Amino acid sequence: MEWPEGLVNDAKKKMEPFDVEGFVLGKGDEQGSVMVVGEAPGENEANKGEPFIGRAGDELNKQLKYMGLSREELYITSVVRSRPYKWVKTNKKGTGGMRKANRKPNKKEIFAHAELLDYQIEQMDPEIIIALGGVAYERLTGDKRKMSDVLGDLIRTPVQVKEGDGYGKTEKEYAIIPLYHPAAIFYNPGIKDHIYESLDQVRVYLKKELN
Ligand code: URA
Repeated sequence: MEWPEGLVNDAKKKMEPFDVEGFVLGKGDEQGSVMVVGEAPGENEANKGEPFIGRAGDELNKQLKYMGLSREELYITSVVRSRPYKWVKTNKKGTGGMRKANRKPNKKEIFAHAELLDYQIEQMDPEIIIALGGVAYERLTGDKRKMSDVLGDLIRTPVQVKEGDGYGKTEKEYAIIPLYHPAAIFYNPGIKDHIYESLDQVRVYLKKELN
């Protein structure tokens, strides 16, 4: 993707006050019909500069395959482009020193990188946007409902774009499909059946929307 001068550097500058590392712009077929929006890079992604190449990436590949999609036909990006981290003790006693752990991006961090996602959506103009997890879904739509209430639905809605100190909405409506973030299955294996029911539903939508 070609970027207007200054956009990427401005976003990096706005992120400077926060505890984040690495930078991932996105990857895949920007001429394609489906955009996938994650939350933020993890450790592997931040090191390599590529989205979803760690454990969550393997799970994402599995779920995409189940829906009849391959990574090559998608454009994969995220709400925040740098890995938000916090320092945690390596063991309970604190004798092993400290390590960086992933954390969810906060509102300010999401806003700092908002123009990057706005630009990618405008450039790609995808037919379908798959939002992986609540952070992506809320950033895109402004809808604060729980993921379990919207899981696997196809929601036609304008998307949020940065406007001044806050967000406005696009004139155009996009088709947004919220899914659990692929890492959710690691923390909560009990949702596996829900996940696969939602993927079954999405498979049907994709057939209808993309043919
Ligand atoms: N989670 C994300 O949202 N993006 C990645 O690239 C990896 C994990």
